[in-house]
Amino acid sequence: MVKPGDRVAYAGGPPGSYSEARLVPAHILVPIPAGVDDTSAAAVMLKGMTAQYLICRTYPVRAGEAVLFHAAAGGVGLIACQWLKALGATVIGTVGSDAKAAVACAHGCDHVIVSTKEGVAKRVKEITGGAGVPVVYDSVGKDTFLSSLDCLRPLGLMVSFGNSSGKVTPFDLGILAQKGSLYLTRPTLATYTATRADLEATARDVFDVIREGRVKVEVRHTYPLREAAQVHRDLEGCKTVGSVVMLP
Ligand SMILES: NC(=O)c1ccc[n+]([C@@H]2O[C@H](COP(=O)([O-])OP(=O)(O)OC[C@H]3O[C@@H](n4cnc5c(N)ncnc54)[C@H](OP(=O)(O)O)[C@@H]3O)[C@@H](O)[C@H]2O)c1
Repeated sequence: MVKPGDRVAYAGGPPGSYSEARLVPAHILVPIPAGVDDTSAAAVMLKGMTAQYLICRTYPVRAGEAVLFHAAAGGVGLIACQWLKALGATVIGTVGSDAKAAVACAHGCDHVIVSTKEGVAKRVKEITGGAGVPVVYDSVGKDTFLSSLDCLRPLGLMVSFGNSSGKVTPFDLGILAQKGSLYLTRPTLATYTATRADLEATARDVFDVIREGRVKVEVRHTYPLREAAQVHRDLEGCKTVGSVVMLP
Protein backbone atom coordinates (compact mmCIF):
# COMPACT_ATOMS: atom_id res chain seq x y z
CA MET A 1 0.00 0.00 0.00
CA VAL A 2 1.01 3.64 -0.19
CA LYS A 3 1.97 6.07 2.55
CA PRO A 4 2.03 9.86 2.94
CA GLY A 5 4.85 11.39 0.88
CA ASP A 6 4.97 8.63 -1.76
CA ARG A 7 4.91 9.61 -5.42
CA VAL A 8 1.94 7.64 -6.70
CA ALA A 9 0.09 6.86 -9.91
CA TYR A 10 -3.15 5.18 -10.94
CA ALA A 11 -5.07 4.13 -14.02
CA GLY A 12 -8.85 3.96 -14.17
CA GLY A 13 -11.00 4.45 -11.12
CA PRO A 14 -13.71 7.08 -10.76
CA PRO A 15 -13.88 9.85 -13.42
CA GLY A 16 -12.19 13.16 -12.55
CA SER A 17 -8.60 13.00 -13.77
CA TYR A 18 -8.83 16.33 -15.63
CA SER A 19 -8.03 18.25 -12.46
CA GLU A 20 -5.01 19.71 -10.64
CA ALA A 21 -5.68 17.85 -7.40
CA ARG A 22 -8.12 15.12 -6.50
CA LEU A 23 -9.07 12.50 -3.95
CA VAL A 24 -8.80 8.87 -5.05
CA PRO A 25 -9.22 5.63 -3.12
CA ALA A 26 -5.82 4.51 -1.76
CA HIS A 27 -6.31 0.96 -3.02
CA ILE A 28 -6.00 2.03 -6.69
CA LEU A 29 -2.67 3.83 -6.13
CA VAL A 30 0.77 2.36 -6.75
CA PRO A 31 4.07 3.98 -5.73
CA ILE A 32 6.22 5.23 -8.65
CA PRO A 33 9.71 3.77 -8.27
CA ALA A 34 12.87 5.88 -8.37
CA GLY A 35 14.18 6.08 -11.93
CA VAL A 36 10.74 6.67 -13.43
CA ASP A 37 9.88 10.38 -13.70
CA ASP A 38 6.38 11.78 -13.25
CA THR A 39 5.70 12.37 -16.95
CA SER A 40 6.79 8.86 -17.91
CA ALA A 41 4.64 7.40 -15.15
CA ALA A 42 1.65 9.38 -16.42
CA ALA A 43 2.35 8.14 -19.95
CA VAL A 44 2.53 4.45 -19.08
CA MET A 45 0.12 3.71 -16.24
CA LEU A 46 -2.93 3.03 -18.40
CA LYS A 47 -1.21 2.21 -21.69
CA GLY A 48 1.72 0.22 -20.28
CA MET A 49 -0.47 -1.88 -17.99
CA THR A 50 -2.79 -2.50 -20.95
CA ALA A 51 0.15 -3.65 -23.09
CA GLN A 52 1.30 -5.90 -20.23
CA TYR A 53 -1.97 -7.76 -19.73
CA LEU A 54 -2.60 -8.08 -23.47
CA ILE A 55 0.75 -9.65 -24.37
CA CYS A 56 1.56 -11.45 -21.10
CA ARG A 57 -1.88 -12.65 -19.97
CA THR A 58 -4.66 -12.42 -22.60
CA TYR A 59 -2.37 -14.20 -25.05
CA PRO A 60 1.09 -14.84 -23.60
CA VAL A 61 3.28 -14.23 -26.64
CA ARG A 62 6.25 -16.54 -27.06
CA ALA A 63 9.57 -15.88 -28.76
CA GLY A 64 9.43 -16.62 -32.47
CA GLU A 65 5.68 -16.03 -32.85
CA ALA A 66 4.41 -13.49 -35.38
CA VAL A 67 1.66 -11.24 -33.99
CA LEU A 68 -0.41 -8.38 -35.43
CA PHE A 69 -0.82 -5.17 -33.41
CA HIS A 70 -3.08 -2.48 -34.84
CA ALA A 71 -2.42 1.26 -34.28
CA ALA A 72 1.24 0.42 -33.66
CA ALA A 73 2.25 4.08 -33.31
CA GLY A 74 -0.53 4.89 -30.83
CA GLY A 75 -0.15 5.17 -27.08
CA VAL A 76 -0.67 1.48 -26.30
CA GLY A 77 0.88 0.38 -29.61
CA LEU A 78 4.23 2.06 -29.19
CA ILE A 79 4.73 0.44 -25.78
CA ALA A 80 3.35 -2.97 -26.81
CA CYS A 81 5.46 -3.25 -29.97
CA GLN A 82 8.72 -2.55 -28.09
CA TRP A 83 7.71 -5.06 -25.42
CA LEU A 84 6.74 -7.71 -27.98
CA LYS A 85 10.09 -7.27 -29.71
CA ALA A 86 11.86 -7.70 -26.36
CA LEU A 87 9.95 -10.97 -25.90
CA GLY A 88 11.38 -12.19 -29.22
CA ALA A 89 8.18 -11.95 -31.27
CA THR A 90 7.99 -10.99 -34.93
CA VAL A 91 5.92 -7.84 -34.71
CA ILE A 92 3.57 -6.80 -37.51
CA GLY A 93 2.07 -3.36 -36.89
CA THR A 94 -0.52 -1.28 -38.70
CA VAL A 95 -0.46 2.52 -38.96
CA GLY A 96 -2.35 5.16 -40.90
CA SER A 97 0.53 7.06 -42.51
CA ASP A 98 4.11 6.77 -43.75
CA ALA A 99 5.30 9.10 -40.98
CA LYS A 100 3.81 6.80 -38.34
CA ALA A 101 5.31 3.77 -40.15
CA ALA A 102 8.79 5.16 -39.55
CA VAL A 103 8.03 5.61 -35.85
CA ALA A 104 6.60 2.08 -35.53
CA CYS A 105 9.69 0.62 -37.26
CA ALA A 106 11.90 2.41 -34.76
CA HIS A 107 9.87 0.98 -31.86
CA GLY A 108 9.89 -2.76 -32.36
CA CYS A 109 7.89 -3.44 -35.52
CA ASP A 110 9.54 -5.88 -37.93
CA HIS A 111 6.85 -5.23 -40.55
CA VAL A 112 4.64 -2.16 -40.79
CA ILE A 113 1.48 -2.08 -42.88
CA VAL A 114 0.13 1.35 -43.84
CA SER A 115 -3.56 0.48 -43.64
CA THR A 116 -4.64 3.42 -45.81
CA LYS A 117 -2.59 2.06 -48.71
CA GLU A 118 -2.40 -1.74 -48.31
CA GLY A 119 -4.79 -4.61 -47.60
CA VAL A 120 -3.92 -5.67 -44.07
CA ALA A 121 -5.04 -9.32 -44.28
CA LYS A 122 -3.30 -9.83 -47.63
CA ARG A 123 -0.02 -8.42 -46.29
CA VAL A 124 -0.22 -10.48 -43.09
CA LYS A 125 -0.70 -13.64 -45.11
CA GLU A 126 2.28 -12.72 -47.30
CA ILE A 127 4.49 -12.01 -44.30
CA THR A 128 3.52 -15.27 -42.58
CA GLY A 129 3.85 -17.44 -45.69
CA GLY A 130 0.08 -17.90 -45.87
CA ALA A 131 -0.28 -19.19 -42.31
CA GLY A 132 -1.77 -16.16 -40.54
CA VAL A 133 -0.98 -15.07 -36.99
CA PRO A 134 -2.02 -16.76 -33.71
CA VAL A 135 -3.25 -13.46 -32.22
CA VAL A 136 -4.47 -10.05 -33.39
CA TYR A 137 -4.59 -7.14 -30.97
CA ASP A 138 -7.19 -4.73 -32.35
CA SER A 139 -8.05 -1.41 -30.68
CA VAL A 140 -9.42 0.23 -33.83
CA GLY A 141 -12.73 -1.63 -33.65
CA LYS A 142 -15.42 -1.01 -36.24
CA ASP A 143 -13.15 -0.35 -39.24
CA THR A 144 -10.81 -3.30 -38.71
CA PHE A 145 -12.75 -6.04 -36.93
CA LEU A 146 -13.67 -8.26 -39.88
CA SER A 147 -10.36 -7.94 -41.72
CA SER A 148 -8.58 -8.76 -38.45
CA LEU A 149 -10.34 -12.14 -38.41
CA ASP A 150 -8.86 -12.82 -41.86
CA CYS A 151 -5.35 -12.34 -40.45
CA LEU A 152 -5.70 -15.22 -37.97
CA ARG A 153 -4.57 -18.79 -38.38
CA PRO A 154 -7.10 -21.53 -37.46
CA LEU A 155 -7.88 -21.49 -33.71
CA GLY A 156 -6.36 -18.00 -33.52
CA LEU A 157 -7.38 -15.43 -30.91
CA MET A 158 -8.99 -12.12 -31.81
CA VAL A 159 -8.36 -9.59 -29.02
CA SER A 160 -10.71 -6.66 -29.57
CA PHE A 161 -9.68 -4.19 -26.88
CA GLY A 162 -10.79 -0.78 -28.17
CA ASN A 163 -13.15 1.21 -30.36
CA SER A 164 -11.07 4.08 -31.75
CA SER A 165 -13.06 4.03 -35.02
CA GLY A 166 -16.38 3.16 -33.34
CA LYS A 167 -18.00 0.12 -31.77
CA VAL A 168 -17.79 -3.19 -33.59
CA THR A 169 -21.18 -3.77 -35.20
CA PRO A 170 -23.11 -6.90 -34.20
CA PHE A 171 -22.18 -9.90 -36.34
CA ASP A 172 -23.13 -13.53 -36.89
CA LEU A 173 -21.16 -15.71 -34.47
CA GLY A 174 -20.92 -18.27 -37.28
CA ILE A 175 -18.18 -16.09 -38.83
CA LEU A 176 -15.81 -17.40 -36.14
CA ALA A 177 -16.56 -20.95 -37.31
CA GLN A 178 -16.19 -20.13 -41.01
CA LYS A 179 -12.84 -18.42 -40.52
CA GLY A 180 -11.21 -21.31 -38.66
CA SER A 181 -12.81 -21.98 -35.25
CA LEU A 182 -11.50 -18.66 -33.97
CA TYR A 183 -11.55 -17.40 -30.38
CA LEU A 184 -12.68 -13.88 -29.52
CA THR A 185 -12.21 -11.83 -26.36
CA ARG A 186 -13.10 -8.25 -25.44
CA PRO A 187 -10.85 -7.58 -22.42
CA THR A 188 -10.49 -4.54 -20.16
CA LEU A 189 -7.69 -3.38 -17.89
CA ALA A 190 -10.20 -3.05 -15.06
CA THR A 191 -10.81 -6.82 -15.01
CA TYR A 192 -7.11 -7.67 -15.23
CA THR A 193 -6.19 -5.34 -12.35
CA ALA A 194 -9.28 -5.86 -10.20
CA THR A 195 -7.36 -7.38 -7.30
CA ARG A 196 -4.61 -5.54 -5.43
CA ALA A 197 -2.20 -8.39 -6.23
CA ASP A 198 -2.89 -8.15 -9.97
CA LEU A 199 -2.62 -4.35 -9.94
CA GLU A 200 0.74 -4.44 -8.16
CA ALA A 201 2.14 -7.24 -10.33
CA THR A 202 1.04 -5.53 -13.56
CA ALA A 203 2.44 -2.13 -12.54
CA ARG A 204 5.68 -3.75 -11.35
CA ASP A 205 6.17 -5.43 -14.74
CA VAL A 206 5.64 -2.10 -16.51
CA PHE A 207 8.08 -0.18 -14.33
CA ASP A 208 10.61 -3.02 -14.63
CA VAL A 209 10.66 -3.03 -18.46
CA ILE A 210 11.13 0.73 -18.41
CA ARG A 211 13.93 0.72 -15.86
CA GLU A 212 15.66 -2.15 -17.70
CA GLY A 213 15.44 -0.13 -20.94
CA ARG A 214 13.45 -2.81 -22.78
CA VAL A 215 10.65 -0.28 -23.34
CA LYS A 216 11.51 3.37 -23.88
CA VAL A 217 8.96 6.02 -23.09
CA GLU A 218 9.22 9.10 -25.27
CA VAL A 219 6.46 11.58 -24.59
CA ARG A 220 6.18 13.61 -27.80
CA HIS A 221 3.04 15.51 -26.87
CA THR A 222 2.48 17.41 -23.64
CA TYR A 223 -0.34 19.95 -23.31
CA PRO A 224 -1.44 22.24 -20.50
CA LEU A 225 -4.54 20.83 -18.84
CA ARG A 226 -6.57 23.86 -19.99
CA GLU A 227 -6.06 22.63 -23.60
CA ALA A 228 -7.86 19.34 -22.96
CA ALA A 229 -10.34 20.03 -25.76
CA GLN A 230 -7.46 20.38 -28.26
CA VAL A 231 -6.00 17.09 -27.00
CA HIS A 232 -9.27 15.38 -27.85
CA ARG A 233 -9.38 16.99 -31.30
CA ASP A 234 -5.83 15.80 -32.00
CA LEU A 235 -6.55 12.26 -30.77
CA GLU A 236 -9.70 12.12 -32.87
CA GLY A 237 -7.76 13.40 -35.89
CA CYS A 238 -5.09 10.65 -35.47
CA LYS A 239 -2.48 13.42 -35.13
CA THR A 240 -0.70 12.01 -32.09
CA VAL A 241 2.10 9.45 -31.78
CA GLY A 242 2.59 7.48 -28.56
CA SER A 243 1.23 8.79 -25.28
CA VAL A 244 -0.14 12.27 -24.68
CA VAL A 245 0.37 13.82 -21.24
CA MET A 246 -1.58 16.80 -19.91
CA LEU A 247 0.25 18.89 -17.31
CA PRO A 248 -1.52 20.92 -14.62
N1 LIG B 1 -9.56 -2.48 -23.15
C1 LIG B 1 -8.61 -1.87 -22.47
O1 LIG B 1 -8.17 -2.35 -21.43
C2 LIG B 1 -8.04 -0.59 -22.99
C3 LIG B 1 -7.03 0.06 -22.28
C4 LIG B 1 -6.45 1.21 -22.83
C5 LIG B 1 -6.91 1.70 -24.05
N2 LIG B 1 -7.94 1.06 -24.67
C6 LIG B 1 -8.43 1.53 -25.98
O2 LIG B 1 -7.43 1.22 -26.94
C7 LIG B 1 -7.47 2.19 -27.98
C8 LIG B 1 -6.07 2.69 -28.23
O3 LIG B 1 -5.61 3.46 -27.14
P1 LIG B 1 -4.36 4.40 -27.35
O4 LIG B 1 -4.12 5.08 -26.06
O5 LIG B 1 -3.27 3.65 -27.99
O6 LIG B 1 -4.99 5.45 -28.39
P2 LIG B 1 -4.29 6.47 -29.36
O7 LIG B 1 -2.89 6.77 -28.93
O8 LIG B 1 -5.25 7.59 -29.52
O9 LIG B 1 -4.17 5.66 -30.73
C9 LIG B 1 -5.30 5.37 -31.46
C10 LIG B 1 -4.90 5.19 -32.92
O10 LIG B 1 -5.90 4.42 -33.57
C11 LIG B 1 -5.87 4.71 -34.94
N3 LIG B 1 -7.21 4.98 -35.44
C12 LIG B 1 -7.77 4.34 -36.50
N4 LIG B 1 -8.98 4.83 -36.77
C13 LIG B 1 -9.20 5.82 -35.89
C14 LIG B 1 -10.28 6.72 -35.69
N5 LIG B 1 -11.39 6.67 -36.46
N6 LIG B 1 -10.19 7.63 -34.69
C15 LIG B 1 -9.09 7.68 -33.90
N7 LIG B 1 -8.03 6.83 -34.04
C16 LIG B 1 -8.08 5.91 -35.03
C17 LIG B 1 -4.95 5.94 -35.12
O11 LIG B 1 -3.69 5.47 -35.57
P3 LIG B 1 -3.31 5.52 -37.12
O12 LIG B 1 -3.30 6.98 -37.50
O13 LIG B 1 -1.98 4.90 -37.19
O14 LIG B 1 -4.38 4.74 -37.84
C18 LIG B 1 -4.81 6.47 -33.71
O15 LIG B 1 -3.63 7.21 -33.54
C19 LIG B 1 -8.48 3.24 -27.57
O16 LIG B 1 -9.69 2.97 -28.25
C20 LIG B 1 -8.64 3.03 -26.07
O17 LIG B 1 -9.92 3.41 -25.63
C21 LIG B 1 -8.50 -0.07 -24.18
